Amino acid sequence: MRKIVIAIDGPAASGKSTTAKLVAVRLGYLHIDTGAMYRAITLRVLEEGISLEDADSIKRVAKQTKVRLERTGHTNRVLLDGRDVTKEIRSRDVTRSVSAISSYQPVRDVLVREQRRMARDGGVVLEGRDIGTVVLPGADLKIYIIASAGERATRRKKELELSGTIVDRQVLEGEILERDRKDTTRAASPLQKAADAIELDTSSLTIEEQVEFVIAKAKEIIQQRP
Ligand code: DC
Repeated sequence: MRKIVIAIDGPAASGKSTTAKLVAVRLGYLHIDTGAMYRAITLRVLEEGISLEDADSIKRVAKQTKVRLERTGHTNRVLLDGRDVTKEIRSRDVTRSVSAISSYQPVRDVLVREQRRMARDGGVVLEGRDIGTVVLPGADLKIYIIASAGERATRRKKELELSGTIVDRQVLEGEILERDRKDTTRAASPLQKAADAIELDTSSLTIEEQVEFVIAKAKEIIQQRP
């Protein structure tokens, strides 16, 4: 059976990751979290004490650093020059700085090349901000996931609490809206819905409903084109 390419884009904390991960498991596909790759480069920039405005140093880091996604069983590990940074890239410091780093075109050039390489043989679910518009405009299925800012803040709060971090919901909502603003207004590959993407509002859907929606669309396509 033909293995298709699925692109899932949308704003921060909209449910992309959870949906992409489960869709990939259900179809036996590879899940590629492209945000994790931008986060890994951001971690390296912060570790080296480079200013977020130092374009030349950031370009050098992007060119010299190897970011790889590795699957072990059902979980993905993020490797930064071979070092497992899966947990560290979720820190609030990285989250606050990642929009700035991902707005640099040289960073995007390096990571987009790697993302296209990983998607070459199909059987992949890529999630990010520019997958359907820039990385893989020819993807077989494009989903654009949205959710209200309030709902996204509530979800992020629960997620952080699971790892022992208590943050005010209003503060999180403010941070999410600020990240949306940066991601949608930047010059390089801003977050936008591809003309041929299907919009999915997850504000009042369960995870199972979100996954089912994408799986049903994927099956239609797989069956159409043997
Ligand atoms: O999905 P996430 O929240 O982990 O993504 C982190 C940041 O990376 C996000 O604020 C914008 C950037 N990003 C991007 O510019 N392009 C992508 N394809 C994925 C993420």
